[in-house]
Amino acid sequence: MHITFCCAATDAEPWLNDLRAALPGASVSLWQSGAPAADFAIVWAPPQAFFDEQPQLKAAFNIGAGVDALLRLHIAPATQLIRLDDAGMGAQMAEYVCHALIRHYRSFAGYDADQQAGVWKQREVLPRSDMPVGIMGLGVLGQRVAQAVAQFDFPVNGWSRTAKDVPGVRCFHGADGFHEFLAASRVLVSVLPATPETRDLLNRNTLSRLQRGGYLINVARGVQLVEEDLLALIAEGQMAGAALDVFRTEPLPAGHPFWAHPKIQITPHSAALTIRSESIAQIAAKLAALQSGKPVAGLVDRTRGY
Ligand code: NAP
Ligand code: GLV
Repeated sequence: MHITFCCAATDAEPWLNDLRAALPGASVSLWQSGAPAADFAIVWAPPQAFFDEQPQLKAAFNIGAGVDALLRLHIAPATQLIRLDDAGMGAQMAEYVCHALIRHYRSFAGYDADQQAGVWKQREVLPRSDMPVGIMGLGVLGQRVAQAVAQFDFPVNGWSRTAKDVPGVRCFHGADGFHEFLAASRVLVSVLPATPETRDLLNRNTLSRLQRGGYLINVARGVQLVEEDLLALIAEGQMAGAALDVFRTEPLPAGHPFWAHPKIQITPHSAALTIRSESIAQIAAKLAALQSGKPVAGLVDRTRGY
């Protein structure tokens, strides 16, 4: 079995070493143009030339959860696309969202400023019932986030494409349930994949439907947010602020208003990082399943877009 590795912005050497150790029967090599045909690929944001030269691939394993960069490419229909499911990202996503939520709810940014100014002052805390949290996307990561938020006794709403029944979560689905979901939420968390349907979904019209003083946590993809609309809604007082991990342009350009905005907290697309050891263990298990004709989780549905 020959595996080719083509991952942008990734230090290949440790991956190649660990893949060779985990898959002793396979030959694993770094892709370069003109490389021999492989059976399987491990990819992250590969160029079109990669798939043009490797049309025979049985499967390509994406070393992330989101496959939007892959689905922009022309890929032979027979090549199965398989994404990571969780592989250590669920716990990170839950940490990130709970941290951002609690930082906002408990006014920790205010306490930081008070410490700098030498001020001793207790800040008011709203009842938790006034801080319902709406999670957009109830997939692998969204459900983990919903469970973590519910542990802190916040009311939790969830929204997905198809109907769901998640314990402790008031579930809404589809276009019909969207406005009711928004109206029932004050904090909005996006854990949706980037698809044509979710592009620009976080805009003036939708964010205005949140309970007044809304707070946005976007850990999904930057293309979902109309950034000017968020800035305007914060200026108008409809939104209280945001914690953003993903942006329409990454890295966030110098001089972008988010860098210095007092009500917007940013991180550099690091809410849930790929963990090499867990990802390789998952890929090795899925390769074994594929070769023995067993089903694998995380198969991408190209028509659906995730
Ligand atoms: P997933 O398991 O595929 O879950 C996606 C969820 O979104 C599903 O519940 C799906 O509904 C829902 N959904 C999709 N399209 C929808 C629509 N049009 N309307 C309503 N709901 C819709 O994906 P995941 O593993 O949880 O990952 C989610 C996303 O997180 C990834 O695609 C990626 O963009 C992002 N991510 C970001 C980071 C980071 O560091 N910032 C790290 C990892 C992942 P159904 O259940 O009905 O299908
Ligand atoms: C990271 O953004 C991922 O999709 O895994």
